[in-house]
Amino acid sequence: MRIGVFCSGGDAPGMNPCVRAIVRAATATGHEVVGINRGYDGLLKEDFFINQEGKPVMTARTVSGWSRYGGAFLRSSRSEEFRTEAGLDKAVAVLKKHNIDALVPIGGDGTFRGAVALAQRWNGRIVGCPGTIDNDLIGSDYTIGFTTAVETAVEAVDKIRDTAESHERMFLIEVMGRHSGYIALFTALASGAEAVCVPETPTDIDAIVRHLRVLKDRGKRSIMMIVAEGDELGGAEVLNEQLKSAGCPFSTRVAVLGHLQRGGRPHPQDRILATILGVRAVQAVDEGATGVMAGLVNEQLTLTPFPETYARHKPLPQQLLDLLAITAR
Ligand code: F6P
Repeated sequence: MRIGVFCSGGDAPGMNPCVRAIVRAATATGHEVVGINRGYDGLLKEDFFINQEGKPVMTARTVSGWSRYGGAFLRSSRSEEFRTEAGLDKAVAVLKKHNIDALVPIGGDGTFRGAVALAQRWNGRIVGCPGTIDNDLIGSDYTIGFTTAVETAVEAVDKIRDTAESHERMFLIEVMGRHSGYIALFTALASGAEAVCVPETPTDIDAIVRHLRVLKDRGKRSIMMIVAEGDELGGAEVLNEQLKSAGCPFSTRVAVLGHLQRGGRPHPQDRILATILGVRAVQAVDEGATGVMAGLVNEQLTLTPFPETYARHKPLPQQLLDLLAITAR
């Protein structure tokens, strides 16, 4: 078979090791691999990855050393054109023109929605790998990139804590997660933050201020409040204004970590997850599977139909929310 591999949506540390695993697994079983640059947009533009020998194929050597790099060497994008009827028709024509039999996309919910639309017009196989820092997909306990993003955020919070302690300040630190509080909760737990605001639980400004007064009375000198960008009340700037109006007892500052969280060398756990799922995706293609995402649930390899991966919100583990409530004192 000719298998096309591409990265799509927000990039995530671990996408490169995942491509490496896909290429190695596919070529080991005699398939040819075509790297598609810039996701669905690159597919529409017939923008293929050209190897060191100037050829549009990826070999085991093409991906040498890719394990240790962040970003996405195949680059990534969010394609408006692909979402249109004309765009989908064009994508099918390109796939046929280049004799591509199967696709292995690495991405998040938008990527898999695109795959579902494509599968309605194209009868090639599509098996995806979960690549997003948000960890918001059903069908894998963790997504590729999440662990690295949390590690980066924790490192930043630790540094901010130093200055917060010196100046006896409270920081509202905004982390990514468009609709999900996973990065926020894990960052808060690992950094010993005093509060977390996530879209999954109601954010009550007056209750937070009451809690902050208690903490101040107990002698707390600094406060780290981790805010998911997708919190239902708004981001860290909005919450800061609301806290000040409600009588926050600390002097506050805001830090938005932003795209910093998407970069950096992939954490070993992300590299391993990327390798496991990349290889599994190729095996699934070989087995004739299609329309599914490879995942790891309770240490077991799984294949989840694309629509199920994004149909419902992935809940935050209640026991972790409880832990934060117990320890943030
Ligand atoms: O989906 C990953 C993510 O990093 C989200 O956490 C964030 O809201 C979004 O992508 C940012 O997207 P962009 O890089 O297009 O601004």
